[in-house]
Amino acid sequence: MTTTPIEAAAEAVARGDVVAFTGAGVSAESGIPTFRDPGGLWDRYDPMRFATFEGVAREAMEHPDELAGYLTEMRAAFASARPNAAHLALAHLEREGLLIGVITQNVDGLHGEAGNTDVVEVHGSHARRRCLSCGALEDVSRQEYVAGLDRTIQALRTAFVPSYQSLLPRCRACGGPARPDVVAFGETVRDFHRAERLAERARTLLVVGTSGEVYPAAALPEHARGCGATIVEVAKGPTSIRADVMLEGAAGAILPRLVDLAVRALHPG
Ligand code: OAD
Repeated sequence: MTTTPIEAAAEAVARGDVVAFTGAGVSAESGIPTFRDPGGLWDRYDPMRFATFEGVAREAMEHPDELAGYLTEMRAAFASARPNAAHLALAHLEREGLLIGVITQNVDGLHGEAGNTDVVEVHGSHARRRCLSCGALEDVSRQEYVAGLDRTIQALRTAFVPSYQSLLPRCRACGGPARPDVVAFGETVRDFHRAERLAERARTLLVVGTSGEVYPAAALPEHARGCGATIVEVAKGPTSIRADVMLEGAAGAILPRLVDLAVRALHPG
């Protein structure tokens, strides 16, 4: 009898020590736009202008309306986003003792909200701010994050903008300007050592919804493979990931089925 790709993937997942490595595609069904799909963010916004710190600072002064438009889209997506079936399936896999951690490139916090407890956010998180003056890190709720965005958008639309820093929320410790602790292009990724150690422990690396285009994160699947991991991939379209088993389609449809099959293999009958 031939094994289907999803059965082969479930067999690998059922062996345990699964690490998930995720990208924007895992949150697409929560309403958060991806970057490189047709019509994605980088199709509509030049990342050199909107995803570098210098670019954003320049846009604030030179094209405040365009920056306000970009931030308004971000606000709409992030304010209402909730974990979808894909996030919940990964949390289920952890509760079953099969998944040991998640490495994500996403900054939306949805894996944690779904219930995963060890999540390495290599591109940072909206749930933290970093002070540009004293370097302090502080946790911010989703409500505070959205309120900060609202103030910035309003200032961009209505006021003369004396500097980018004048648009930022204030640090609770020193009163300096504090920016979201997310990694812009050209900046150092977060917790990468921890991500590599986790990838090394993976018996199966479950890669979900990433084009595999952005380094150093994109090197993690090959790093895990080099340490003996099987690479199972779930994505809607072709990617740069070299997978042992590829499951093509929406993560919100595929992951619950995959997890269900793996859990049934674990507890037969
Ligand atoms: P991309 O937009 O590059 O890739 C998203 C991938 O998800 C594509 O391969 C899609 O086919 C797939 N996809 C879309 N919808 C899906 C769905 N419902 N189910 C499963 N797969 C789906 O996003 P990332 O790889 O995450 O970095 O991008 C990596 C980094 O580039 C981001 O973290 C961000 C960006 O610039 C920074 O901002 C530093």
